[in-house]
Amino acid sequence: MIKEILIYPNPKLREISKDVISFDEKLHVLLDEMYETMIEYNGVGLAAIQVGIPLNVLVINPINEDNEQKKEDLMELINPQIVEGSGTILFQEGCLSVPSIYEEIERFENVKVRFFDRNGNEYIKDYSGFMSVAVQHEIDHLRGHLFIEKLSYLKRKKFEKEWKKQLKTKA
Ligand code: CO
Repeated sequence: MIKEILIYPNPKLREISKDVISFDEKLHVLLDEMYETMIEYNGVGLAAIQVGIPLNVLVINPINEDNEQKKEDLMELINPQIVEGSGTILFQEGCLSVPSIYEEIERFENVKVRFFDRNGNEYIKDYSGFMSVAVQHEIDHLRGHLFIEKLSYLKRKKFEKEWKKQLKTKA
């Protein structure tokens, strides 16, 4: 089932998500629905809070070198935690909760992440480049943060002005 995506400034997006305790059928349904929803809206990443569920669950499905988004590349991270970060990278980010806004954001270039898969198996993996950016962006959602909070004061002011206009034309 395709879920509704919460749009900024919905206050629910500021909620801090909780760890998953049961790796059960309910979690699997949530993960499947998050995947479906992300694909429907042409996204590459989605956190559970974006569909209104305050759990530490995220999905990322990168685009490969052939410009294809294959389900075999789908990553599901449960209760993810960044245990190490190094380097810096500037990357143009977007977000399904802030549609059609793209801004350059600074992040760690490399991260080491501890997480669980849908069956409760634990992993520690290293990510760099796009994957590192995507993991940090989605983990921010789980802590109640959006990428626009990282903009400079002036850029944020400009964004808020444009965003108000955009919301008005859509209403
Ligand atoms: Co986002």
